Amino acid sequence: MAEKLRIGVIGAGRWAARAHLPGFVRSPHAEIVAICDLNRDLAEERAREFNIPHVYTDYQEMLAKADVDVIDVCTRGSADDRDNHEVLAFAALNAGKHCLCEKPVAHDFKRTWEAYELAESKGLKTKVGLTFRYAPAMQYMYELIQEGFIGEPFIFNGFEQNSQFISPTEPVTKADLIPPADLPDIKVSSLEGYGAPIIDLSQWFVGSDIVRVVGMLKNFVPYRTDASGQRVRTHIDDGDIYMGEYANGAICSIQSSYVTVGNYPGLEARAYGSEGALICRLVEEFG
Ligand SMILES: NC(=O)c1ccc[n+]([C@@H]2O[C@H](COP(=O)([O-])OP(=O)(O)OC[C@H]3O[C@@H](n4cnc5c(N)ncnc54)[C@H](O)[C@@H]3O)[C@@H](O)[C@H]2O)c1
Repeated sequence: MAEKLRIGVIGAGRWAARAHLPGFVRSPHAEIVAICDLNRDLAEERAREFNIPHVYTDYQEMLAKADVDVIDVCTRGSADDRDNHEVLAFAALNAGKHCLCEKPVAHDFKRTWEAYELAESKGLKTKVGLTFRYAPAMQYMYELIQEGFIGEPFIFNGFEQNSQFISPTEPVTKADLIPPADLPDIKVSSLEGYGAPIIDLSQWFVGSDIVRVVGMLKNFVPYRTDASGQRVRTHIDDGDIYMGEYANGAICSIQSSYVTVGNYPGLEARAYGSEGALICRLVEEFG
């Protein structure tokens, strides 16, 4: 492997511009050699901004032609085949590339395990973009738990909530907040997109996987304004609560929402154990 990892990024949207591309540029271990987006103008704009030599609009062409070690999947990840993380992650692994993938890797967790097994069988590394683990306060909380500060973990309470989509009249720019109106069931949105980091933190802190859950998904804001100004029905989970049990016997309650009044990002992790308790909050108090 070369001294620096050669990176190819699929998806040149908002999160790539704000987090992934600046992160790779700052790292002494990475070099972005290719970027791919269905929108060529956007891909070219990012290429200029981040000094990326090769631009593609077809990920298969990028996988075939670009000399990269790692593929970073930073598309939106809906069920649409074009931006589906699962399709792109499997393509990257099948092409023999290490893969960093935004959450969720797949909407069916079994497919995520299959991606992991495929990577293992090929000696490839994988990583999911669950970045709140790297917040210094969360790292400190993890260290304290590892040192035994709370003793045996008994109960975890987690929150990830803010008011970023509370307004029914603010035009929605994220298409996955407005799924097709004829879906028979509520579409999972807040829990998958916004609850994922606190679920990840909870399992990391407790040191065990959640094995049983019971919960509720709610749709508090039933009508929204789409990008063209139309009022549309949006049958999604914009708030949820569940309680769960980990394999080691600890229990949790987790709450996620993006329509509850509060500041961004609105993460709060509380761990209670046999010897002590820890609470860590990530909020912009004046945000
Ligand atoms: N980890 C976090 O804290 C965090 C925060 C924000 C967003 N995200 C995640 O980042 C991902 C991207 O979000 P975003 O806001 O940048 O979305 P976005 O809609 O702004 O950008 C996605 C881009 O991917 C492109 N794209 C889609 N399918 C493609 C394909 N097959 N080939 C090439 N390009 C393709 C689209 O044209 C678009 O430009 C989402 O999965 C989101 O959940 C994570």
